[in-house]
This record gives sequence, structure tokens and C-alpha cells, in this order.
Amino acid sequence: MLRAPSIAITFALALVLAGCRDSGDQQTTTSTSTTAAVTVTGLVANTTSARPADVNQARYENAINEPGQWMTYGGTWKEQRFSPLDQINESNVNRLGLAWYAELGTRRGVEATPLFIDGVLYNISAWSVTTAYDAVTGEELWTYDPKVPPEYSRITCCGTVSRGVAAWNGKIIIASLDGRLIAVDAATGEEIWQTDTRIEGQPLSITGAPRMADGLVVIGNSGGDVGSRGYMTAYDAETGEKAWRFFIVPGEPGVADGEASDSVMDMAAATWTGEWWTMGGGGNNWDGIIHDPNLNLVYFGTGNGSPHLMRHRSPGGGDNLFLCSIVAVDATTGEYRWHYQEIPAEEWDYDCTAPLMLAELEIAGAEREVIMHAPKNGYFYVLDRATGELLSAEAFVEGNDWAQYIDIETGRPVLYPDARPTETPKLMSPGFGGGHSWNPMSFSPLTGLVYTPAHYTTHVSSVAPEGEFEFQLGRSTYAPGRQEPELRRELNQQMQETEYGFLLAWNPATQQEAWRVPHPHSGSGGTLATAGNLVAQSTIRKTVSIYAADDGELLWEMPVDSVAPGGPITYMVDGKQYIALNAGWNSALVYGLNEGGVPFSYSPARLLVFALDASGVELPPPQDPGELVAPPSTQFSREQIDRGAELFATNCQLCHGQSAIGGLKDLRYMTEEVHAEFNTIVLQGTRADKGMPVQPDMTEAQVEDIHAYVISRAQEDWQGGFMQ
Ligand code: HEC
Repeated sequence: MLRAPSIAITFALALVLAGCRDSGDQQTTTSTSTTAAVTVTGLVANTTSARPADVNQARYENAINEPGQWMTYGGTWKEQRFSPLDQINESNVNRLGLAWYAELGTRRGVEATPLFIDGVLYNISAWSVTTAYDAVTGEELWTYDPKVPPEYSRITCCGTVSRGVAAWNGKIIIASLDGRLIAVDAATGEEIWQTDTRIEGQPLSITGAPRMADGLVVIGNSGGDVGSRGYMTAYDAETGEKAWRFFIVPGEPGVADGEASDSVMDMAAATWTGEWWTMGGGGNNWDGIIHDPNLNLVYFGTGNGSPHLMRHRSPGGGDNLFLCSIVAVDATTGEYRWHYQEIPAEEWDYDCTAPLMLAELEIAGAEREVIMHAPKNGYFYVLDRATGELLSAEAFVEGNDWAQYIDIETGRPVLYPDARPTETPKLMSPGFGGGHSWNPMSFSPLTGLVYTPAHYTTHVSSVAPEGEFEFQLGRSTYAPGRQEPELRRELNQQMQETEYGFLLAWNPATQQEAWRVPHPHSGSGGTLATAGNLVAQSTIRKTVSIYAADDGELLWEMPVDSVAPGGPITYMVDGKQYIALNAGWNSALVYGLNEGGVPFSYSPARLLVFALDASGVELPPPQDPGELVAPPSTQFSREQIDRGAELFATNCQLCHGQSAIGGLKDLRYMTEEVHAEFNTIVLQGTRADKGMPVQPDMTEAQVEDIHAYVISRAQEDWQGGFMQ
């Protein structure tokens, strides 16, 4: 059954993001749900511990010795997403079948890695709705709905998603999309405390999973795209009281925040120019966080700047600390310890928030304790985790247009001469989705390989001419301009035609590719590695697939009518091993899925659980996608379309895709009814319940311009029966 691996292994966490309201600090309430609804439909079964989710520091630190559990976001505190379980292995994986599944009641994206603790699966779905299941039968034990206001989707860039929950001392800790941290009783789902992580007036949300640090819950936020100032906060898991806060970018010079970051804000401010603090500054941590209990450090990755482009953010240049960096702070106090900036003067939307992973690697004959990181910029970084020293960095995706190489002496990238955006649009690789984004990677200490959902993507890079950018709080701060529309159209076409994805097995010690499995498009999900010589990944071909960890041979796969973008987990109950994941991809920016005339649609989101010799459980047949409706034939003036294109880029693109392709809802596919309702949907919020934010400040004429642009885009792509 269990084959104990000979190498010391490890464990993990999750992350966070927040919304807007409350005064400077959180207010903590100890109440049983005022706005929240709890449904208890069953009793907790199969527990081996005295009470559910009985996770403490000792269990957390030794999670690798309880291989049947998955107690934190990344499996153990090192977040390697490696399981020593090997009951399911390369010789029998062909007997894998669907044991049970749960409908998540949404077609929205689901990105969570579930937790498994003592017989119970804890899962978080769209709108932060959290459910506990009996992990053997799938029986629902309770559901907690934090009742996130539907308008909230307006400031979330990429879906109403949550990537996970944390567990501590009988509590499940939920970071809600609207920026609250909520502790519920793991046995019943009853609320124990909740606190608001947001700062008043800032457009903040949370999509990441909270991580534990010796009794503290650590969380960041999203909102760097829409004018916020990113920060990390730690809260006492028992009471919800704030322990410390660390701002990622400096505020107004000379004005102290009274927070742990104060000691380094002058140092950071010296790397900025202009009046960035009036536009947020950004840097938000919306994913990677790890607590290292041996060094008592919390490491976190930081995001893009706000505004996005240097010309609008820091016009006189500067590195802009701590954008796109890994920062280490004292876990108890939040005091700065070290940082490594992966992308000085970031302006490509190459967030450095991808999940962090800790490991012990033999490098040049010595064992090093490292952090491994593969952010969007397409480079794989290995750092000494005690000091932040850069040990190595190599490109893991071909065709990088950003940096020629990373200079190991200075730690700085050597950029291509034309890497920075100019007014003339050009294609840049990696694209906004990155060479690798938040989708979790895994590391097997048995093979020494990191398994990464990698992609080759590009984006159209440009900057609006001087004077054309106007900052608006809560609106996208990305201002590429609309100059050269013909060239843009051509580049967009190339972008569609050239993208692809692959499962990459990478040797982090030698910084070399070991093998890859090609996927037809970008957008495949996170990975899990096990001691059964397996790597599990849900692919863009709408499958759950299992590969041999040593050579990438496809061992088993099942069509599931969807993609699971997050990380699969594995667990064991009563001597039986299971694999579980959340399939539902309506938050992924997916391209080129209409091949062969088959229109693309999102399927219902589901939690899927697999086991050996499971049979008799079948997924409902895929929905017939139906006929696509031709776009209206109305013609519009070039001027109107161009005005609409610009409005679309600032107000809609974040959710409806670059060039109106893909996104949360592909507007090229609107039906006659939707075309007729277009203005009311946008101006009166008639789709607010589905997460379409009302645009109260827009005029009727502006909405008509956008409508003209979207129709003209659909006409361009229409191929008599399908969209190109
Ligand atoms: C924060 C994300 C977000 C932004 C920004 C956004 N939308 Fe939406 N939009 C949505 C979501 C979510 C839906 C509903 C998707 C569904 O029905 O599943 C939607 C639906 C729509 C629909 C209905 C489409 C249909 O076929 O049912 C229209 C029309 C629309 N949006 C137009 C716009 C326009 C125009 C803008 C810019 C002014 C915009 N949206 C900005 C998220 C957004």
C-alpha cells in the first residue's frame, strides 16, 4: 500500500484577495450568520479524529507523514502537491473509474483545490459557496453561503472564483470573493467569526486560498488591475483579530501606515516616480503564499502594477518595488526579511503570484533549501529560501520575447531591446495568461521533476499615446490605446493561430526539460504527482488524464465534458485511495475551441471523485451545443467601431476577452434576444444576478458604440455556421 519515499517530502497552503468598504482595519464580529445561510443536511461520517478538521501546528508540520490527508492548499506546507500514496499506480491506473460526483450548481469557473481531513472533503465553489461532503459517499454534510453581492463580479478580473479554504482547530476558514475572512465550524458550517480584510474605498476582492502560519491566517487580495494598493494581512485563526499587515507598494511618501511594512516603504518609494499612490500602485498578492515553519518566514508572490503601464504609473522609470517579486516576512510580526524582484518595472501583466513551492535540491553538489517559482514571464526561478539569493533561472517556454536571459550575478533580466510596450502594437510572448499562471504545479521528490501546466501564448502589447489615459478607480487601468486598428486585427489573428499548451516535466536542479505532452490549446489544469509514478492533469481536450511521472506516457484518461483548471488531490479513507478535482472552466480565457464547426460552450461545474474499480456512476451526456446564430448584418461606421473598441478595452475586455473573444461570456455568440436587450443589460443591470456588472456612468451612445464594435467583431469571425 504505502511505499514510503526515501526522500524527505513536504507540504502547502492557499491564498487570498479582498473587496472595498470598511474603515482602515477590519471589524471582527463573533456571531452566527446574519447574512449567511447554512444548511446542514447530514452528519460527519468516517472521522478518525475526535472532531472534524482537527488540524494543529504539529499535524500541519508533519502532514507528509499522514499521506491519506490533504490538509492544506498544496498538500503539505511545502506545497509540492506530491502524495506518497501509491495504491493507485502505473500498473493498475487503467482500472480507475468515477466513484461519485457532485453538481456544483453553476456554469461559472471553479478553481479550488479541495481539502480532505479525516473523512470529509471541504470544497469552495463560485461565489465562495463552501460545502462539506462525506468523502466516500459524496453525501453533502453542510453548505455555507457567504452571500457575496452579485455586483461584486464587476471588480473581479477573471470570474467569481475561489481557489481554496484553510482548516485549523476545528474550523474551516473561507476567504470570500468580497474580501471577508470567515471561520465556520467544520462540523456544522455554523459561522464562528468573520472579519473584513478590505480597506475602505479600495476595489479589492479575494480569489486565493488562505494559508496558515502557526495559528495565523495569512491572506492577500486582488484588485491590482483596477486601482488598488496590494497588501498581506495575518489574522488570529481563533478570533479573527488582525496580527499584522504588510503593504506591497509604498503609499504617499512621508505618510506612515503604522503597519509592519513601514520600515521598508522608504526603500520601496525610492524606486517609484510620479504620483502612483493616487492610482493604487497595485502589486496585489492573489495567489502564492507559503509559511516555512523552520525559518518562521511567510513568502508571497506579488502582482502587476496599477496602472499597468510604466508611462501611466511611474513615468520617470524605476524598479517599482515590490511589484512582481517574492517577498519574505517574519511570520509572527510581518517584518520584512528579504525580497527578490523577478520583474523590475513590470508592464506586461506578468504577475509573479503563481504558487510558490519549497524543496530540497542538490545543486552543484550541495543540498540547498529552495523556493521554486514559474511565474507568467516564462522563466523558472530557483532561490535560496533563507536569503532570497537567486540560484538559477531559465526559460521554460520557447519563444520568449521579454528577456534574453536572467543575469545570475545581478539577479536582473536582460530584456530584448524592443520588449517594452510602444505606441505601435506588437505581439509579445508570453501573453497575459503567461507561460504558466496560477494553475498549480507539482513536484515529485522521486523523479526530481516539476510538472507544470505550461502554454505558449502571446498578447498584443502597446501603450496609449501621452495624455490618453485617465485613471478611474474600479476600472481597468490597462490602457493600450486603439491606434493602428488594422495591425491589431492582424496581430490578434496571429495570437489565435499560434497559441498551444503542454504538460511540462522540468528538472529544477539542472533547469532542463525532461519531457512534455503537447496539448492543442492553452488552458489545461493544475497537476498532482504521486508515489504511484503518476501525474494527474485535466486537459483542454476536456479530459481527466493520468501520465507516467517518469516519462510522460499517457496511462489513463476519461472525457468529462469540461476542464478542471485547479489542482487535483488524492486521499485515503478506510484503506482506499481516491483522486478528486473540480471541473468547471468558465474562468479560463480559452481560444480556438470552435474547430470543426463545433460551437464552444461551458458545461456545468462538478466535483469529480475517482477510485480503482469504481463503476456504475456516469456523468450526464454533454449538452448539445445547438446551432450558432449568425451575427446581425447591420453595418457601422469605422469611427463608431473604433470608439466602441476603445470603450470595450477599458470596460469590458477584462471579462469578455481581448478582441471580444472568449472570456466569461463570448459576446460574439449573442442571440437575437440578447442583442435586443444589450442596452438594458449594460445600463440597468438586468444580468446582475449572473455577475454582469451594471455600468451606471455610461451613456446610451457609448453602449451603442460598444455594441457596434462587438457586432463587427462577430461579423469578422463568422464563417457561416461557426466562429473562426
Ligand atoms: C466583471 C466582469 C464583467 C465586466 C467588466 C463586463 N461583463 Fe458583461 N457579463 C459578465 C458576466 C459574468 C455575464 C453573464 C455571463 C453568463 O450569462 O453566464 C455577462 C453578460 C453580458 C451580456 C449578456 C450576454 C449574453 O449572451 O447573455 C452582455 C451583453 C454583456 N455582458 C455586455 C458587457 C459590456 C458591454 C461590458 C462593458 C461595458 C461588460 N459586459 C462588462 C461579466 C462582465
